[in-house]
Amino acid sequence: MKILLLGSGGREHAIAWKIAQSPKVEKLYIAPGNAGTTNCGENINVSVADFEGIKKAALEKGVDMVVVGPEAPLVDGIYDFFKNDAQLKSIPVIGPSKEGAQMEGSKDFSKQFMMRHNIPTAGYLSVTKDNIDEGVAFLKSHKAPYVLKADGLAAGKGVLILNDLDEAIKELDEMLSGKFGDASSTVLLEEFLSGIECSVFAITDGNDYKILPVAKDYKRIGEGDKGLNTGGMGSVSPVSFADDVFMKKVEDRIVRPTIEGLKADKIDYKGFLFFGLINVGGEPYTIEYNARMGDPETEVVMLRIKSDLVDLLEGVAEGNLAEKTLEIDPRYAVTVMLVSGGYPEAYEKGKVITGQDKVENSIVFHAGTSVKDGQVVTSGGRVIAVSSYGNTKDEALAQSFKGAQQIEFDKKYFRRDIGFDLK
Ligand code: AMP
Ligand code: GLY
Repeated sequence: MKILLLGSGGREHAIAWKIAQSPKVEKLYIAPGNAGTTNCGENINVSVADFEGIKKAALEKGVDMVVVGPEAPLVDGIYDFFKNDAQLKSIPVIGPSKEGAQMEGSKDFSKQFMMRHNIPTAGYLSVTKDNIDEGVAFLKSHKAPYVLKADGLAAGKGVLILNDLDEAIKELDEMLSGKFGDASSTVLLEEFLSGIECSVFAITDGNDYKILPVAKDYKRIGEGDKGLNTGGMGSVSPVSFADDVFMKKVEDRIVRPTIEGLKADKIDYKGFLFFGLINVGGEPYTIEYNARMGDPETEVVMLRIKSDLVDLLEGVAEGNLAEKTLEIDPRYAVTVMLVSGGYPEAYEKGKVITGQDKVENSIVFHAGTSVKDGQVVTSGGRVIAVSSYGNTKDEALAQSFKGAQQIEFDKKYFRRDIGFDLK
């Protein structure tokens, strides 16, 4: 079959790498892809936001399935666009409907969903300009830290965790006054949960589900989880505290009720579902849903899926996921992200990347790279994810660390302590 994968990051390179291994795949296209995805398939120069361009490419290339990497096209309704188009409707899109993508696109929507289906999560209040007084009272009645979240997508910047009450009140006012544009015209105030986080992923055909390998990502720029938030500096799978006992609670209290809740609410959802969880004294709580795979978690999760991913995706599309098997590699996987110096603040692009050919026993996933004058150059803050297997977490980390040192570009930076807080 012919598959079209949408996206251009490390997540998409990892998905492309896994799809390309499937004997079922005759041809893989990636739109727009990056310098690394060309090793797995053919890049098509179409943006994920250009639905007409995607339509043209899908028809011209005769694709049999579309796999969506990032959230934006899902929230903008790419699934519905295909479903409602006479020429496209027979092509399955792996990803939720526009309504289903609201699980990520609107924190108010997902919180209401969790409440309706008794899924453990932090207590909250939804605030708009009309009930700002109630919001201030909520903040005053809680202890620090204060959690404020823009309802809509705000490029990962819409969550504030503040220690000072006056600052929290001031920020609430600023958010409601358009600090994050429309995304913060509704703000969620949440009870603060204290614990360690992990990322759980499932695929669903709307009826059944399979839980993919659990992972943990490291978002801060500095070692020891210090400094500014980034898109993710590395990840680990499996996660020591997410043992069988914990994962049973996750499945019974969170994953299954979520899939059943989507069904009960008649929300069309066939694709990946990401549960951002926090372990509070051994009990899992849901921090957020995402309507896609995580980045850089995918760069370890794909290594640990032994089964044919395309066979599983066919199960999603055809509604027979229950008949498919998911086999997981027992080894550890660790990915280390190489980023541009200065990131997540201002950084330079266009730096020539060398040394990739020296890397052995690791898988190099490109994130922000492109080809310029025949050379691979940096084109983003997160540049390359180096992923490795190991019989232990430390072995996998040491291997990725070695690869991270071998790849070179001007002002390269990476964290050496991915997984430091896990056993
Ligand atoms: P979100 O975009 O909702 O995942 O929030 C971003 C990050 O903020 C999460 O990964 C958590 O580290 C933190 N966070 C969000 N909500 C809470 C909460 N209720 N309690 C503690 N930390 C939170
Ligand atoms: N790694 C977190 C995310 O993809 O949102």
